[in-house]
Amino acid sequence: MPKYHIQTFGCQMNYSDTERMEAYLHALGFDKTETPEAADLVIFNTCSIRQKAEDKVYGSMIRAANYKRKNPNLIVAVTGCMVRKSSSKYSTERDKLFNRMKELDIALRTEELPKFAELARELDPKLKFPEIEEEELEDYFQINPTHSSQKSGTQAFVAISNGCDNFCTYCIVPYSRGREKSRKIGEILEECKKAVAEGHKEITLIGQTVNSYGLSKHDKEAGTFEYLKDEEPFVHLLKEVDKLSEKGLERVRFTSPHPKDMSDKLIEAMATLKTQMPYLHLPVQAGDNAVLRRMNRNYTVEHYKEIVKKLREKNPDISISTDIIVGFCGETDEEFENTYNFFKEMGFEHAYISQYSERRGTTASKFIPDDIPDEVKKQRWERMNELLKKTSARAHQRFKGKTVKVLVEEQNGDVCIGRSEHYKTVQFQSEKELLGKIVPVKITHSDTFILKRL
Ligand code: SAH
Ligand code: SF4
Ligand code: F3S
Repeated sequence: MPKYHIQTFGCQMNYSDTERMEAYLHALGFDKTETPEAADLVIFNTCSIRQKAEDKVYGSMIRAANYKRKNPNLIVAVTGCMVRKSSSKYSTERDKLFNRMKELDIALRTEELPKFAELARELDPKLKFPEIEEEELEDYFQINPTHSSQKSGTQAFVAISNGCDNFCTYCIVPYSRGREKSRKIGEILEECKKAVAEGHKEITLIGQTVNSYGLSKHDKEAGTFEYLKDEEPFVHLLKEVDKLSEKGLERVRFTSPHPKDMSDKLIEAMATLKTQMPYLHLPVQAGDNAVLRRMNRNYTVEHYKEIVKKLREKNPDISISTDIIVGFCGETDEEFENTYNFFKEMGFEHAYISQYSERRGTTASKFIPDDIPDEVKKQRWERMNELLKKTSARAHQRFKGKTVKVLVEEQNGDVCIGRSEHYKTVQFQSEKELLGKIVPVKITHSDTFILKRL
């Protein structure tokens, strides 16, 4: 049997796509190997969110040349967010990546996964693959994922939509993943049911703007969700997934929501559904209205504050984390200070802080100069991270002496690591076999980013 090796970069969406690719390759008769040297096919599932992310991918792809020297028949394929055009090295119109990497054989857009067999045949017409029913392949979401990258089968990531229509001026995602399309509710529920039957206690629903599920232009034109009438598709989905608590599902999270679609009904559902957790990752990007406007984020600082207020009214103990970009085009000292102070005021308990990285093809790269010096970006990034350490440490302290419920995701000997309901990492010791179980743990110690029972 031919073997494939796959390396995944980037966000959870890419890991989820990798699971679908694996299932598809198994259907084509491939077996998985963790050793690239033993593979007949090496695939890089790439991320292009920042220059650093791309550099990391290129760094790994250099090794493909070595693998190819050892095995000249090796097929090297690239997929994910760095690919613009599905093509093989013999195609008339090829992706730009072929100019950068002479070992490359196939470039494949994620949502065109079913084209892989056809492109592989362009390389070698003798390659034979089992026939897969055409309609099964119409939509890559219809390929059932292997759920293999999920830690120890305790929690599953289920993609509910792909693509993005928002065009934030800095962001490459609408170009790399195309227009937003939602999966049908029935299809998502089937995947969730399967995950629960496999023993997963937690499901995270994922999408680029997960809470605009069913609201995209494409979804409206297709009329897929018309039957729901006034009910918001995402809220409806959360209610349906919640029913799986009868089958053993205990926790449901979703990421990343967009502030503009954080409706009152969604806030209500988060507070009332059994499986919803007291945690929300709600990317704000900046705490200054002029910067938000330049970013085309479609909300104001005041609107964001209002959402947080409502979330906290329903659940005063909710943990909120966010994403911040520092050093975006034209960010003045004052604008940065506004973001800094906003971060403090909101009491964000965790955050991913990025330095702005210009992405070719985006609106910002075309029209707004990337004029903040690297040194200033770095200083702002460091200041934000210092602040984050303080706010995170403070947030952790409130759990000292309390008992939290932990879903154990890793166990090495007697050391167990998992997440609490508030999505805090918890470490403790136990002689018992606890992997995949939800157990009460009394917190005795709190670090900047971790809670412990010592
Ligand atoms: N859809 C999500 C974010 C997806 S991208 C949302 O709208 O919030 C993940 C994070 O990467 C973003 O939240 C942003 O903080 C960061 N990011 C995206 N493009 C970036 C860029 N060009 N430079 C720096 N950070 C970027
Ligand atoms: Fe990118 Fe904005 Fe879409 Fe998020 S909402 S994926 S930041 S364009
Ligand atoms: Fe990267 Fe694509 Fe995710 S650009 S962050 S892998 S959506």
